[in-house]
Amino acid sequence: MKTKTVKGNWKWNWKTNRLGLPFVFLICIFFFLAGFFASSLFSHYQEREDDLRLMPRARTRLTEKSTEEETGYHLLQAGESGDDSITSIPFQVLSWYPRALYFPNFASAQQCESIVKKAKVGLKPSSLALRKGETEENTKGIRTSYGVFMSASEDETETLYAVEEKIARATKIPRSHGEAFNILRYEVGQKYNSHYDAFDYAEYGPQKSRRVASFLLYLTDVPEGGETMFPFENGFNMDGNYNFEDCIGLKVKPRKGDGLLFYSLLPNGTIDQTSLHGSCPVIKGEKWVATKWIRDQIQDD
Ligand SMILES: *[C@@H]1O[C@H](CO)[C@@H](O)[C@H](O)[C@H]1NC(C)=O
Repeated sequence: MKTKTVKGNWKWNWKTNRLGLPFVFLICIFFFLAGFFASSLFSHYQEREDDLRLMPRARTRLTEKSTEEETGYHLLQAGESGDDSITSIPFQVLSWYPRALYFPNFASAQQCESIVKKAKVGLKPSSLALRKGETEENTKGIRTSYGVFMSASEDETETLYAVEEKIARATKIPRSHGEAFNILRYEVGQKYNSHYDAFDYAEYGPQKSRRVASFLLYLTDVPEGGETMFPFENGFNMDGNYNFEDCIGLKVKPRKGDGLLFYSLLPNGTIDQTSLHGSCPVIKGEKWVATKWIRDQIQDD
């Protein structure tokens, strides 16, 4: 009996052949689509999980690209004992002589504006570290900008703290090695003749610590002029005839929010002669820059 029923049903199915085939076809499509959506949903969920694992646990206030989607790189997962936030701080290698790196979009426009606003209050004519025999009078005109020293703790908006933190992470030299920020304003015609940031023992006498590197954060766009220049780039113009006012060599155009890092000392501690640099006169607009000098010893300011 049972077999008969089954057989009967089977027969019935076959007999309704003309209706059944499209029906079976539709069922197939239905399951195919259902499977497709389910798998894509599942993989989407997986991706999100991966993203979350790649995400820094605590994002700093600075915008740092961190996901593969944004950077185009497949980043390593954080190790057991390493920094638990994975961030990339993109840079462009500018040159070996001097050792200089360029960091596009290091700080946001808002952060730059906040620093400028804060610095405007305390501006004074910039000064120079004087060599033997030099006086304020006979060095007039070498550095014509206005500036103010500001440490991160003086900025209640915590912008300088965030920038300082990011500089330390980019250079891998701890924050404690940095001098307070020197925030400078160059108006039309103002400049800084070429100079070294590290001081030669022979010229300036013994020092407790020395400047290893300098990080410049450009706070405004400058329509014309105001470039940071390295006249001895690649050993050029070093024949002794260079006029320290001349704006030649490697020139870095200030762009709001971008950073420039260069090293004044070679790995063996001698001054890199090609790190000579200056600020070309501003021709149009106003140049604001935050300078962080980084030393080989902890600063106790
Ligand atoms: C330091 O390194 C530079 C470049 O390699 C070299 O020219 C110089 O003689 C070195 N100075 C000392 C004191 O070793």
